[in-house]
Amino acid sequence: LQAKVLAGHHVLVTAGPTFEPIDPVRGITNHSSGKMGFALARAAREAGAAVTLVAGPVHLRTPRGVRRVDVQTAQQMLQAVLAHVEQATVFVAAAAVADWRVAQVAEHKMKKEGSGAPPALTFVENPDILATVAALPRARRGELYCVGFAAESHDLLRHARAKRERKGVPLLVGNIGPATFGRDDNALLLVDEREAIELPPAPKLTLARQLMGEIARRLADGGVR
Ligand code: C5P
Repeated sequence: LQAKVLAGHHVLVTAGPTFEPIDPVRGITNHSSGKMGFALARAAREAGAAVTLVAGPVHLRTPRGVRRVDVQTAQQMLQAVLAHVEQATVFVAAAAVADWRVAQVAEHKMKKEGSGAPPALTFVENPDILATVAALPRARRGELYCVGFAAESHDLLRHARAKRERKGVPLLVGNIGPATFGRDDNALLLVDEREAIELPPAPKLTLARQLMGEIARRLADGGVR
């Protein structure tokens, strides 16, 4: 039996990729499987929290007892997060949000026949969901504990520290090692204002449970009321 270390808390998690449409039949996405985010939602629920999971397009079953909101685009993900963040005491951003979206989504399918040159797509920047949430007054006051992720190919500690500052979050979690997309195993580097600790290679669910324990410990240490 697991200790209910997050009883009384409400954990909001983003997971998976986003899908940014080009026209009604095409779009841009990435290889995020959503497995880490879904494992985090499950682990938070096991630890006694109420859990809301905002998920991009993935092929995963909803963990038991978790409220799931499905979205496609980064803008929809931000709206869903803002709609549920008021009750949350912990926000974990595990989604691989597309940095850009197509500026003008074509109303009809773009045609190859008779169109001459291939289309040139113009992109605009998507909102940064994590930075937006971390800047909310409740987060600034320490009533909402925000956790970000980083996938870096090199120099993870330096990048994780910089990203923690840039996003304005108390805890930044780095994915150690090569691309973990779709895999069941991972290893994590946790960077907060005091220390950097490693969670060695393990299944994502094991790591998710350990991470929820680390979050609970930091909340108990005087983070969130
Ligand atoms: O800036 P970068 O994408 O590397 O930051 C990764 C962290 O920020 C992850 O926690 C990710 O979920 C979050 N993020 C977000 N909205 C974005 C981009 C990243 O919430 N538009």
